[in-house]
This record gives sequence, C-alpha cells and structure tokens, in this order.
Amino acid sequence: MSTSPVATLGDSLVLKEVMIDPYPTLCRLQREDPVHWCDAIGAWLFTRYDDIVPTFRNVCTYSNEGRLSKVVEYLPAESRAHYKVLEEHFRAKSLIFSDPPDHTRLRALVTKVFNATRVEEMRPRITELIDKLVGDALDRGHADVINDIAVPLPFTIVGAIIGVPASDQDNVKRWADELLAFQGLNKPPEAILKISQQALIDFRAYIGELIRERRRTPRADLLSSLVAAEAEGDKLTEQELTYTCITLLVAGHETTTSLIGNGLYTILRHPDQWDLLRREPSLLGSAVEEMLRFESPVGRQPRVVKEDIEVRGKLIRQGDVVFQMLNAANRDPEYFENPDEFDIRRQPNRHLSFGMGIHFCVGALLARTEAQILFQTLVERAPHIQLVDEKPDWDLRKPNSRMMHSLDVRF
Ligand code: HEM
Repeated sequence: MSTSPVATLGDSLVLKEVMIDPYPTLCRLQREDPVHWCDAIGAWLFTRYDDIVPTFRNVCTYSNEGRLSKVVEYLPAESRAHYKVLEEHFRAKSLIFSDPPDHTRLRALVTKVFNATRVEEMRPRITELIDKLVGDALDRGHADVINDIAVPLPFTIVGAIIGVPASDQDNVKRWADELLAFQGLNKPPEAILKISQQALIDFRAYIGELIRERRRTPRADLLSSLVAAEAEGDKLTEQELTYTCITLLVAGHETTTSLIGNGLYTILRHPDQWDLLRREPSLLGSAVEEMLRFESPVGRQPRVVKEDIEVRGKLIRQGDVVFQMLNAANRDPEYFENPDEFDIRRQPNRHLSFGMGIHFCVGALLARTEAQILFQTLVERAPHIQLVDEKPDWDLRKPNSRMMHSLDVRF
C-alpha cells in the first residue's frame, strides 16, 4: 500500500499506475481523510458512503448545474474566449446538468421510454442482437469483447430508442469520447479542450440535422417525441432538446460498454464465481449487481456546492466542486462486508453505481437487462470462454470512468 503523505494522496489518483488499481488509495483516503481536498482534480473528494448519500439527497446544496463549465475558468481571459462554445454548452441546463424545477420537467419527457414496459418490449430485439454478436464471435473462435460486443450492443439499442442509425456508431462514439476528454483533470491542457470543443461542434451539427429531419418526417422514436414536445412551446427549448439528445447518447452507451467489459473481465478472473454462475444461472441478477459494485463504470462524478458548508470539520465553500467517489463508496466496509471480495451471491448490495435520488440513472433497467441477457447467453453458448491476456487493457484517457480499450477472449 502507498506510503504517500495523506495531503497528496488524492493527487496520486491521476497517475497511471494508480488509475490501474485505485482501490488501495481510495481505501486509505476513506480511512485517513474521507473529505479530502485534491489539487490535481481541483475538487473535494468524498469517499465514505455516509458522506456521499447526502450529496445525492440534498440537491439545494449539491447542484448539477454548470458542474463541468468550470473547466476553462483557470485560463486567462483571451484564451478562455476560445472555448466559449464548450463553456456555454456545459453552463446551459439539460437533463443531467440541471436542478429542479428544470430537471423535473426535462426528466419527465424521457423517462417513459425507459420504463419497465418499454424495456420488456425491447427484450426480443436485444436478445436477437446478442445472439448475432455472440454467434459471430463463436464462429471466429475469438473476440475483442469491447469492440465486437460491448460497444455495438448498447449503441444499437439506445440508438434505436432515440432514433440514431447504427451506421453512425463510429462517429458518435468518437464525439462522445472526445467531448468528455477533459473530465476529471484540474486545468486540462488547451490541446484537450480544443479536441472536446470540436467534437461538441460536430456532435451538435449532427443532432441538429436529425432534428430537422424529424420535423419534416416524424417517426416512432424518442427524438420525434421530443421534437413534438418542443413544438408545443413550453415543454423544452431547441437547445434543451439538442443537449438532452447528446446526454442520452453519451450516457447511454459508454457506461454499458464498461459494465460488460469490466464485468466479464472480473468474473473470468474469479473462475470459482464463473463456475458458480454456470451452475446457478438464477444468480444472473445478483452477479450483474456485483459487477457494477466491484468495478463501477462511473468512478466519480461532480457536484457544485451552492452554499458554504462544513463536512467532517472541513469548510467547503460555495462554488467548490465535490466529487462523489462512487468507486470508493461501493467498497466502503461500513456497508459491504469484505468489500474487496467479488461475490456474486452478495446480498444486500446497495451499490451507488447508478447514482441515487432525482438523477438516478434513467437507463439502469435497460443496462441491467442488456447485461443479464448477454451473460446468460455467454453462460449457455460459451461456457469455456477464456481471457487471452490476464492483464486488463484499461483505457486511462478518461479518469472519471472505469473502462477498457479492448478485451480479448477465446472460446
Ligand atoms: C451500466 C450502465 C450505466 C451506468 C453505470 C450509469 C450510471 C449513471 C449514473 C451514476 C448516473 C447519475 C448521474 C448523477 O447523479 O449526476 C446516471 C444518470 C443518467 N443515466 Fe446512466 N448509467 C448507465 C446506463 C445508462 C443508459 C443505458 C442510459 C440510457 C440512455 C443512461 C442514461 C442516463 C441519463 C439520461 C442520466 C441522467 C438522469 C438525470 O439527470 O435525471 N444511463 N447514470
């Protein structure tokens, strides 16, 4: 375990070797400095479950509005002006970047397409797609699970719900990656801000084109119903419509890709758990929850503090950013027995990987359903699946997320 002084412990979270295995550092922070100021991230890090829950519940103090717009504030005025598009985008209110009452209005427009009835209606389509992706991989005898299954699966499904053609997957994935490339770093270099801003411009132009098309010819998709709501005048503005579509596309595929990649890697690294799942497929539901807990796809996420507040004797000032360290909370020994043990029977398992409260993940049921069907298919059709390389190929470009570049397996 690291012997760094506690004052700089948080800073080490941006080092590559710590990003590969952040858990010992998070565990030390939880024990020694649970409310920790971190220079490298430019924010407070909350690592205890008990401290994070109020940051979800108390939305008057811990806000989602403008939570990413601070990224350019460190620049001198003349450089900052170059990133106006990026700053204004993240300052504007949209589903995930808003508080009540705007949030309540925007959320009501999208939740119905992700409810239990609609997800059940999608089940045959999800199953068919998984059968095809897994079938193709089996025919080849090997696969890169990330690029062959975990990327196309959620993208195709969420794309169909929103109304984005599967053929545009590569562009949307690149824009989504680049748009948030600055996340999780204090004072990101301008080269990264430039990339993020260009991705935003291209992404917005693309969504704008889809919106114009739906105005001419509505279809049976979420985009068309949002366009209809915008036409009614008081439900959402064109800007909110565009930004909400971007949020849904970004939030809706990458996280599920992570769950599938991280989950499969973890369970194959624990062969006793894989064998248990093969013997007892009724554990599929709790296995997926344990995958979510053990390697949370969203490692950390920010809130902006709206008034001075004291937590564990530390004064947190209005305007400061607090990071909810979901990956630490999910291994808090006060809430999870033997938290570093991967146990697919774990009950209860109240992990925070989908958040909590008013911003609780809209797509949680969809993501769970996709993952459960995939793991069921693998158990049935690929029981002897093996990792080609025991060392995970973590994608370290986005420090807030936990995801892999590639995951090679053979059957
Ligand atoms: C394993 C997969 C997923 C994980 C781990 C995940 C994680 C999260 C988390 C932690 C939040 C809370 C954000 C906050 O508190 O500020 C969130 C919100 C959200 N998620 Fe997911 N998500 C996943 C899949 C999806 C899918 C498939 C969609 C579908 C489009 C989706 C759409 C959203 C949206 C729109 C929000 C914002 C909700 C709001 O602000 O009210 N997510 N997600």
